[in-house]
Amino acid sequence: MRKYIIHSIFLFAIIAIIISCQNQETIDLQNYMSNGKDIYKTRCQNCHGENGEGLGKLAPPLTDSVFLKNNKTRLACIIRNGTNEKMTINGKEYQEKMPAFPELADIDVAQVMVYITNSFGNNQGFVPYNKVSIHLQNCK
Ligand code: HEC
Repeated sequence: MRKYIIHSIFLFAIIAIIISCQNQETIDLQNYMSNGKDIYKTRCQNCHGENGEGLGKLAPPLTDSVFLKNNKTRLACIIRNGTNEKMTINGKEYQEKMPAFPELADIDVAQVMVYITNSFGNNQGFVPYNKVSIHLQNCK
C-alpha cells in the first residue's frame, strides 16, 4: 500500500512538471504574439496589410505558408536586414525592396516573426528568441 502511494506521488509530480513546462511555452507564445502584433502594426502593416494581404505589386502577402515554411531559418534575416531579391509568393513574382530594421533587437525580431508565422492562416508554432539569435548570426 505504501509503495503504491509513493509511486502515485512520483507519477503525479512528473505529470505536474510536464504540464507546467507546457504552460510556460503557452505563456511565452502569448507574450510573443501580443508584442509581435504591436511591432507588426507600427512597422510592417503599412506594406503587408492588416491581415497580411500585401499591397498589390509593391509588397507580397504573408499568407503564403509555403514560402514562410521553406524559409524558416531566413525569416529573421529578412526582417532584420530587408531584402531585394526576386521572390515568388503565392505564385506571383515580387522584386521591390523591403527596408532593413536594424533597430529591432533579437527579441523584437523573434516576436514579430512568431506573430506573422502564427497569424494570417499560418500555424508554425513557437520559436524562442535564442534560436532566432542563432539565425541572425548566420545571415548571409
Ligand atoms: C516599405 C514596405 C515594407 C515594409 C514596411 C515591410 N516589408 Fe516585408 N517585404 C516588402 C517587400 C517589397 C518584400 C519583397 C522583397 C523582395 O521581393 O525581395 C517583403 C518581403 C517580406 C517577407 C518575405 C516574403 C513573404 O511575403 O513572406 C517577409 C516574411 C516580410 N517581408 C516580413 C516583414 C515584416 C515582419 C515587417 C515589419 C518588421 C516588414 N516585412 C516590413 C515590403 C515591406
